[in-house]
Amino acid sequence: MDLGISGKQALVCGASAGLGLACAQALVAEGVHVTMVARTEGPLQAAVDRLNTSGPGHARAICADVTTEEGRARIFAVTRDYDIVVTNAGGPPPGDFRQWDRQAWLRAIDANMLAPIELIKATVDGMMARGFGRIINITSSAVKSPVEGLGLSTGARSGLTGFVAGLARSVASSGVTINNLLPGTFDTARLASNFARQAEREGLSVAQVVERRLAKHPARRLGQPSEFGHTCAFLCSVHAGYINGQNLLLDGGSFNSV
Ligand SMILES: NC(=O)c1ccc[n+]([C@@H]2O[C@H](COP(=O)([O-])OP(=O)(O)OC[C@H]3O[C@@H](n4cnc5c(N)ncnc54)[C@H](OP(=O)(O)O)[C@@H]3O)[C@@H](O)[C@H]2O)c1
Repeated sequence: MDLGISGKQALVCGASAGLGLACAQALVAEGVHVTMVARTEGPLQAAVDRLNTSGPGHARAICADVTTEEGRARIFAVTRDYDIVVTNAGGPPPGDFRQWDRQAWLRAIDANMLAPIELIKATVDGMMARGFGRIINITSSAVKSPVEGLGLSTGARSGLTGFVAGLARSVASSGVTINNLLPGTFDTARLASNFARQAEREGLSVAQVVERRLAKHPARRLGQPSEFGHTCAFLCSVHAGYINGQNLLLDGGSFNSV
């Protein structure tokens, strides 16, 4: 299927690894020109170089922290004329809410609520003026199905989810859609480090932790980042113009509901 977005300009944040990289990869494969953002130059440039050899779209790197004003200023000093924006950054650390002070909450809200809102603010009016736009926020399945210890993530991302629900309805008549993608358990470096921490805490091997997690999972496997990336590319396509304001769970059916 031709997604109809060849030649479009995309901004993909958190793009040197994991889910963000998979989104960038899938968009470049559709002929989209992708600006990839991450904080660490080496892996980001390596990812950009890899995607530029695969084409048909092009990739370029902007090294910046999307959670800071300076980082976002660096990104938008180049351009803010993007047709597609994928917001993404690292998630807050797990823990016990009794240990989280005001600063911990503000860091989580900055990274997982206010940064995506600022990225949207900088780009959505241009999209509306041009009559086409796709904004995808990478959030978490924890927004629909809270996980013990992930309160900072659920709390901050729920704020974003509520905000986006309202905004998405106000931009749709201009050809712009805003949707959230909610990953369950995808095989990325972040997930591996979560499993390693859990294994250490519980005196188990990482393999045992993974086995235990998958035993309760309907698909009995982790999600592959490429599955996430291709779903993102479809939501960015011309065919997905009537999908708006949705919270799409990509969790292999793990969240049990009708
Ligand atoms: N993987 C899962 O199963 C899963 C499940 C639920 C939710 N999530 C959420 O989905 C998001 C992506 O997860 P992932 O597994 O793909 O993580 P990952 O493998 O750790 O990759 C994170 C990417 O984001 C970049 N990044 C992190 N903080 C950034 C910042 N402040 N500014 C710019 N770039 C930043 C990282 O590069 P630098 O470190 O160099 O900046 C890296 O490229 C996270 O918010 C995570 O909490 C993931």
